[in-house]
Amino acid sequence: MGVLRIGIAGLGTVGGGLLKLAYGQGPLASTVKVMGVSARTRGRTREVDISTIAWFDDPVALAKSPDIDVFVELMGGSEGSAKAAVEAALSAGKHVVTANKALLAEHGAALAALAAANGAEIRYEAAVAGGIPVIKALREGLAANHILAVSGVLNGTCNYILTEMDHTGRSFGEVLADAQRLGYAEADPTLDVSGADAGHKLAILSAIAFGGAPNFKALRLEGIQAIEPIDLESAKFLGRRVKLLAKAARVGDQVIQSVRPTLLAQDHPIARVNGPLNAVVIDADPVGRLSLVGAGAGAGPTASAVAGDLIDLSHEDSRPVFSGPGQANQLTAATGGLLANSKFYVRLRVPDRAGTIAKITDTLAKHLVSIESFLQKPPEDAARVPIVLTTQPMAEQDLLDALAELSRLDVLVEAPVLMPLED
Ligand SMILES: NC(=O)c1ccc[n+]([C@@H]2O[C@H](COP(=O)([O-])OP(=O)(O)OC[C@H]3O[C@@H](n4cnc5c(N)ncnc54)[C@H](OP(=O)(O)O)[C@@H]3O)[C@@H](O)[C@H]2O)c1
Repeated sequence: MGVLRIGIAGLGTVGGGLLKLAYGQGPLASTVKVMGVSARTRGRTREVDISTIAWFDDPVALAKSPDIDVFVELMGGSEGSAKAAVEAALSAGKHVVTANKALLAEHGAALAALAAANGAEIRYEAAVAGGIPVIKALREGLAANHILAVSGVLNGTCNYILTEMDHTGRSFGEVLADAQRLGYAEADPTLDVSGADAGHKLAILSAIAFGGAPNFKALRLEGIQAIEPIDLESAKFLGRRVKLLAKAARVGDQVIQSVRPTLLAQDHPIARVNGPLNAVVIDADPVGRLSLVGAGAGAGPTASAVAGDLIDLSHEDSRPVFSGPGQANQLTAATGGLLANSKFYVRLRVPDRAGTIAKITDTLAKHLVSIESFLQKPPEDAARVPIVLTTQPMAEQDLLDALAELSRLDVLVEAPVLMPLED
């Protein structure tokens, strides 16, 4: 295709990083020519001088401009301007490069159909795990593999918070407040701490690994808000680490997708990935286990991924939007995401009352919960005794039934915290 004529909508963290590469000394500068830009505030100072580049108040107008071959969407959001502009670009037969995981996770199927109908492509390496080239690894490097599972730490904010809680013993709320002051967490952290952001990324990875289009609604989502220092301490005592694990795994002819706090074995490749880093582990046949670790966010790493997609497009390398090893044998996405056979960690708080422990063990036995370890911690006060236990491998539904019965028996002073164990 030669020099690509591009339009960039969104000149914030990622868009600014991309402008620096487009006007720098590296390979992108000789690959693209920036024909137009769009952002919300025209007068704002940007990473490079944009006064000679055509300005568009409306990103949809830029997306449709006859002067561009590729529309680069770096505004964000699953609806509104980002969606309208991407649709306009694809309808006009222009390729789209985006970092927008929310848009692809929620509207990927419709956008893929629109792209195919118009002979256009969507590239989105930056949408998952920032600078880690995991989309390319799955689509190209592992094209000959049968994927068994893709798991990862896909949200740097959550990983930073859990790491800080682990190292300092401080509560979720205290560490979150600090992270917001330091700029590691958004003023409204809901998308991150609820697991939704990691879920958007997992839905995309799962589509590539197991076929179909992203199915965000089928995901089981659980955030880190309920995790307390006692859980991190107990995990360490058990030789494990708590991570917000995003995982899509083949189970029969279905794929189970979940984002949930998980106790990882200490020698699991993700267990020692700390701070704001991201990691992805792929289990596949015949390659075995692969681990990729790196920066999941930030101007440089994310712009690196966007620029890689642009350079690929300049080579006229064309393939369907969600092509990958999964397409040959598509699995259906299971809803609910309950585990059929896993060990679990459970944290309970019970009143300091005679007979309580017997009630708990009787109820667990009744539901065939086989206990691997059981630790009663010193009372926090007369009304609250923490109990931490791990189970033998079992169906999650049976454990949920047992915990529901314990709640009905009035032996729990708060909702239990439940996490799977993973080796
Ligand atoms: N930040 C990261 O490290 C990272 C990593 C991976 C993926 N991503 C994804 O990359 C995308 C951009 O993220 P970001 O962190 O760069 O965001 P950001 O810093 O908030 O920048 C957003 C940019 O979009 C512009 N914008 C917002 N709404 C607009 C509208 N309606 N019309 C025109 N321009 C509009 C803003 O204009 P003004 O500058 O005038 O306000 C700003 O330049 C998101 O999809 C995000 O999920 C980000």
